[in-house]
Amino acid sequence: MEIRAIRGFNDILPDEIRKWQFVEKTAREVFEGFGFSEIRIPIVERTELFARSIGESTDIVEKEMYTFTDRSGNSLTLRPEATASMARAYLEHQLYNIDRVAKLYCIGPMFRYERPQKGRYRQFYQIDAEVFGVDHPMVDAEVMLMLLHFLRRVGLENLELQINTLGCRNCRPRYRDELKKFFERKSFQLCEDCQRRLQTNPLRIFDCKVETCQASIANAPKVIDFIDRECSDHFRKVKEYLEESEVPYVLNPRMVRGLDYYTRTAFEVVSYHLGSQNAVTGGGRYDNLFQDIGGLDIPGIGFAIGMERLISLLPKGRSFDQPPLLFIAALGESACKRAYQLVNRLHIEGIRAELDYEGKSLKSQMRRADKLKADYVLILGEEELQRGRAILRNMKTKFQEEIPLADVTDILKGKMVCTRPKD
Ligand code: HAM
Repeated sequence: MEIRAIRGFNDILPDEIRKWQFVEKTAREVFEGFGFSEIRIPIVERTELFARSIGESTDIVEKEMYTFTDRSGNSLTLRPEATASMARAYLEHQLYNIDRVAKLYCIGPMFRYERPQKGRYRQFYQIDAEVFGVDHPMVDAEVMLMLLHFLRRVGLENLELQINTLGCRNCRPRYRDELKKFFERKSFQLCEDCQRRLQTNPLRIFDCKVETCQASIANAPKVIDFIDRECSDHFRKVKEYLEESEVPYVLNPRMVRGLDYYTRTAFEVVSYHLGSQNAVTGGGRYDNLFQDIGGLDIPGIGFAIGMERLISLLPKGRSFDQPPLLFIAALGESACKRAYQLVNRLHIEGIRAELDYEGKSLKSQMRRADKLKADYVLILGEEELQRGRAILRNMKTKFQEEIPLADVTDILKGKMVCTRPKD
């Protein structure tokens, strides 16, 4: 039986990968410009790291982690997100000794055992950016500004930045109590999972997809009505900084995010072109996460962009193809040998060139050059070869000229500058 990929795990094929490379390259450029540095963290971590940060009663930890026991009996998990691992690395390597403020980004695959559908996979990629060590509202706004600037740079339009505040550990208990009272009155409407959530973590009822639970959420109390003075001041300042830097946002008082580590600012970027999985990015502040994983009292804020969702929103008109600049059509054995030397020289010079390996007719080689969308074809016949020359044909204009073989590299380098604008 033919072996196929696992459900929810995708191949990213060569005709798609150019888009990914373009997005990743732009992310690096933009983030580095904002003072961020890349960090690479392991794909596997101790299960406890995620349980303690994301939260035991979240869907991610309860139902969606790829957890296994290794040969030494350790419980390990394929990372469902990157924030906790980045915080662990910052603590483990005492990056705060270099500078308390660390601006880090990371790009890579995450794993969640969710029900696969459009925009939701079991292996998916995130571009993640985090700022550790500052709790000033200016940073909250700066991070959102960078995010929107990046999304615009890659060509995404009609996005909406939604923000909310989730309060902190001082004001949350009061909200929790109120929420519990509210849902207890409606408990007959709640699904079995939510009945349990009502006891363990009523905030998680907001994540439920069941229709009757959704209906009961509609009139639930809002966090913003329960936050303390400091959290309220923080949120007011975040909004002021966003307005100051002309970042448009809308308030979404129902957004609670699906991970327990959030405090104060929470945000999402949504697109109405994405269907039900409409969040391209989720993020927020997490001022207790470092302590929860056994570290120092360090605040943090960041976001993660879902790559697959972002890629699906890229403007359709733009071509990401990279056809060869040159196809060498060689006729006869000595011309073939010469073509082989030439193509290698061109590759070393960084010029995309192709040749025919099978000694086909000129007509069939021209057909292949056309199919590969080569900009030029170099026709190398025995007779031209003896004179040290070849014919260069522009495939668009059909213009042909005879050129000295010794000049091929220089001529093509010149053409490359004219025909290949940089991103
Ligand atoms: P999240 O909301 O769980 O947050 O995920 C962030 C983004 O990853 C989502 O908005 C979505 O675009 C994408 N995503 C999530 N799950 C899937 C999936 N199964 N398939 C495809 N795309 C998916 C976090 O992961 C936090 N760590 C974000 C963060 C960083 N908060 C602070 N810093």
